[in-house]
Amino acid sequence: VKFQVVRNDSKRESLMLLLGLKNVFVRQLPNMPKPYVTRLVFDRKHESTILTKCTSSREYVVMGGCCYRPFLEERFAEIAFLAISDSEQVRGYGTRLMAYTKERTKELGLTHILTCADNNAVPYFKKQGFSKTITLEKERWQGYIKDYDGVTLMECVLNPKVDYLN
Ligand code: ACO
Repeated sequence: VKFQVVRNDSKRESLMLLLGLKNVFVRQLPNMPKPYVTRLVFDRKHESTILTKCTSSREYVVMGGCCYRPFLEERFAEIAFLAISDSEQVRGYGTRLMAYTKERTKELGLTHILTCADNNAVPYFKKQGFSKTITLEKERWQGYIKDYDGVTLMECVLNPKVDYLN
């Protein structure tokens, strides 16, 4: 398996990976409107950490990923979608994907990750170091993040001294 950061830079390879990721999200997050998922995944302000697996025919298949928007000035990222394909869940990939995402956002100089977690994903996010207690000053995220019914706003504080991949 391989983890990589992918943005919509109009390159064919990036677009193919983002398309594969969009399909995983649509399948794993059935409550999310498909056009909304597509719009954010291909949005140029968003980027994604993508997990691919090499098949026997030496093709890379997208097994999951995490799509987020880095707010560079406010120094936080908001995770929009995160999912691992059905057949690959509960094998530790979700944990590795989050570690990779933390390392990437840390490298961008960000200090926090926020997400509106589906209520059933709250235990997963807790295991990844997210908390329901938001310490990021409201002025930094207000207006960017909409909290709504059925989701829980959660936060992870990034420690610049920690190597999340080790
Ligand atoms: N409820 C409780 N515990 C969970 C859940 C859950 N829904 N999902 C995973 N866990 C636990 C696992 O049992 C494991 O526990 P352990 O460390 O004690 O063994 C731990 O979380 C991590 O498991 P991984 O194998 O690393 O995670 P996995 O590869 O299964 O990925 C994920 C987790 C991404 C949540 C996956 O289950 C998934 O794609 N679910 C469907 C889509 C989804 O709900 N996405 C999040 C929506 S919220 C949002 O997108 C902002």
